[in-house]
This record gives sequence, structure tokens and C-alpha cells, in this order.
Amino acid sequence: MKTANWLAASGSSELAAVGVSVSVFNLVSKLFNVPLLNITTSFVAEEQAMADESSDDYHRLSDGFAGEQQTKKLLPSLSTSLALATGIGIAESIALSVGSGFWINLMGISVDSPIRIPAEQFLYLRAFGAPAIVVALAAQGAFRGFKDTKTPLYAIVAGNLLNAFLDPILIFLFDLGIGGAAISTVISEYLIALLLLWKLNDEVLLISPNFDGRKIIQYLKSGGLLIGRTLAVLITMTLATSMAARRGPIPMAGYQICTQVWLTVSLLTDALAIAGQALLARGYSQGDYEQAREVIYMVLQIGVATGVALAVILFVGFGAFSRLFSTDSEVLEIAWSGILFVAGSQPMNAVAFVIDGLYYGVSDFGYAAYSMVFVGIVSSAFILATAPTFGLAGVWTGLFLFMTLRVVAGIWRLGTKGGPWERIWSEAEQLSD
Ligand SMILES: *[C@@H]1O[C@H](CO)[C@@H](O)[C@H](O)[C@H]1NC(C)=O
Repeated sequence: MKTANWLAASGSSELAAVGVSVSVFNLVSKLFNVPLLNITTSFVAEEQAMADESSDDYHRLSDGFAGEQQTKKLLPSLSTSLALATGIGIAESIALSVGSGFWINLMGISVDSPIRIPAEQFLYLRAFGAPAIVVALAAQGAFRGFKDTKTPLYAIVAGNLLNAFLDPILIFLFDLGIGGAAISTVISEYLIALLLLWKLNDEVLLISPNFDGRKIIQYLKSGGLLIGRTLAVLITMTLATSMAARRGPIPMAGYQICTQVWLTVSLLTDALAIAGQALLARGYSQGDYEQAREVIYMVLQIGVATGVALAVILFVGFGAFSRLFSTDSEVLEIAWSGILFVAGSQPMNAVAFVIDGLYYGVSDFGYAAYSMVFVGIVSSAFILATAPTFGLAGVWTGLFLFMTLRVVAGIWRLGTKGGPWERIWSEAEQLSD
């Protein structure tokens, strides 16, 4: 297929094709790759903390270079995660390339659509990057567990630079069209994965000499729970979007603007959740429950403060922000009506994300999953019941309810001291007796 004037002539359907494959990738990533990343963070942080605690009886292997004092740590959680990442990545690669037609069907692109062929081609090529993506995410999870957020950032910047450099060469010089864009992305993904593995290899033995089946089971069990949890979130959000779409194109556009802002802003509190997760995992696995409690109080307080600050900023700045997305005054009016929801829900969102980090920090994946399924069912039922009568207001109230119930479920878990929380609080009670 010749796509010489990619940007100029056939721009819109090619771009739409890229958009379709990107959504397929995002879905797969949310369902499988992100849970692996999150679990790796917890397990590596726990193992690292225990290794620091008792570095004597902990297994350290000599690097083998004569004269050098270098030792490499053996972290079974990391080698297991990387092995799983490779396996999952290869499976995704096969499923996405062999089944590219199936996935494009699933996204509702018919056989005679002009998007069809470029979308399939793009997805087919991008599929080869899947192993690199999953391995890079698992490695990123490990760096998070080490509380190192800089290294992954540098690697991602390097990958993006390479991508920006290769894009014009492959697309225009080699006349490869969007195929060139896909190839350039895939090459950059491998660069990121290799850079991260190379940095990890400095300190850690990447391939464990003794294979631990229990670790794999632990990963798969926790992974299954987190996939269930992600599905509960996805179904609730998809339902909300489809109820908004039924109100017609203008409410839908307004809804999109609001949810985009909502999601973009939530990335800030996400960072807090990730930091809280690694800190709590450390205190908890070292048996330092006092430190664990301090982390819990601290991140909850910072969460509330951040949420309130974001709410204020959004109330003030939302107008200017939403005009970036649309100039249609009717759409903007609807977006304005969503400001109450977007800004007002920030404190609740922030606390909900922080609580996610706390669950993950003590590997309370079961409760995180089951409570989310329950909360998702209740909120979805609410949206189904109210949206037909109250329109967008019903959808937004339902989403706010969703975040509120997540917070309630979290506070409930902390308060009733179930599962891993019992240990954290029990020592506090003894002290206060
Ligand atoms: C899990 O990883 C994703 C992707 O980086 C992140 O957005 C999310 O906050 C993580 N969850 C927790 C609780 O750390």
C-alpha cells in the first residue's frame, strides 16, 4: 500500500486507523500489562526491603569479575516478573498480529470502511512491539519498587527522541506511510526495554538460577484479581460513556471534555499513590508497623490537600482549559455544567487513588478487587437508573458515587482492620493500652 502523502491527502482515515489500533493497545495494556507492573512494584519493594534488613543471610552473588567488589542482588520477584512479562508479551504479540482482523472487527470497523486496511496494517506491525512494552513496564514496576522514578523517565525520553527521529525517515524518505510510523514506534519500544534491562542488570541478577514456582502462582493469582478489578472499572466507565452518548452529539462532546480533564488531572494524584505504595510496602514487609502507619496517615493527608488544591485550581482555570478542546458554545456550556463534577470530585478522587496505593502496598489485592466489583455494580445500577431521566447529571452523579464508594470501601477496610491491616494496627493498640 502506497501512502506517500500520508499527512496531506489521506490524513483523516490514516489517523483514524492509528487511533483504532491505539485503543486496542490501550485496552490490552490496561487489562494485562498494568496489573503486572503494579504487582511487580509491590513484590520488588517488599523483597528489596527484606534484603536491606537482613543483607547477611540474604543471597548475594558475586559478579564474577576478578578483583571487582561488585555484587549483584538476587531478587526472585524481579526475575519472575521479567519472565512472565516476556511470556505475556509474546502471547499478546501473536494474538494481536494473527488476530488483527478480529480486533478491528471488535472495534466496530466494517470490512468496507476506508479505515479498515490501514488499521489492520498498523495493528499488525505494532503487535511486534508487545514483548518490549510488557518487559519495559515490568522493569518500570521494579524501578518504582526501588523508589527510582528517574531512570524509567530517562529511558522513555530516549525512546521518544528516537521515535521522533525515525518517524520522518521511515514515513517520508522510505515512503512507508503509517507502516513507517508503526515500525519506528516498535524500534523505540525495544530501545526503552533494553535501556531499562541494561540499568537493572547493573544491580540485579536478571535471570534467577533457581526457579520458584510459588512466585509465579503468587503473580498469577494477584494478576487475576487485578484483571477482575480493571474490568469492573472499565465496564462502569464504558457504561457511563454510552449513557452520555445516548444524549446526542453535543452532550457527548461536553462529556468527553469533562472526562478528559478529569483523567488528565488524576495523573497527578496517581504519582502520590505510586509513592505511597512503595513506601508502605517497605515499612510493612520490614515489620516496621509504626512507619507503615505514618506512611498511611501522611499519604492520606497529602491526598486530601492535593485534591482540595486541584479542586480550587480547576474551578478557576477550567474555562480556559475546555476552550482548548472545543469552540462550540453549546458544547462549552455543557462542559461548564460539568465543572461541578470535575472540580468537586477532586478531593474524593485523590483519596480513592491514594487508597489504591495503600491496598497494593500491603498486597491486599483480593479486597481491592472484590470491593471494586461491588462498587462498580452499585454505581452502574445507579447510572442505568438515573441517566435516562436526568441525562448527564445522572451520569456525573453516578461517577461521583463510584469514587465515593471506593473511598468508603477503603476507609472501611482500614477501620475494620481486616486481612493484612490487622497486623499494622494491632501494635498501635498495644502501645496505647
Ligand atoms: C498501577 O500502575 C498504573 C500505571 O502506571 C498507575 O497508573 C497506577 O497508579 C498504579 N496503581 C497503584 C495503586 O500504584
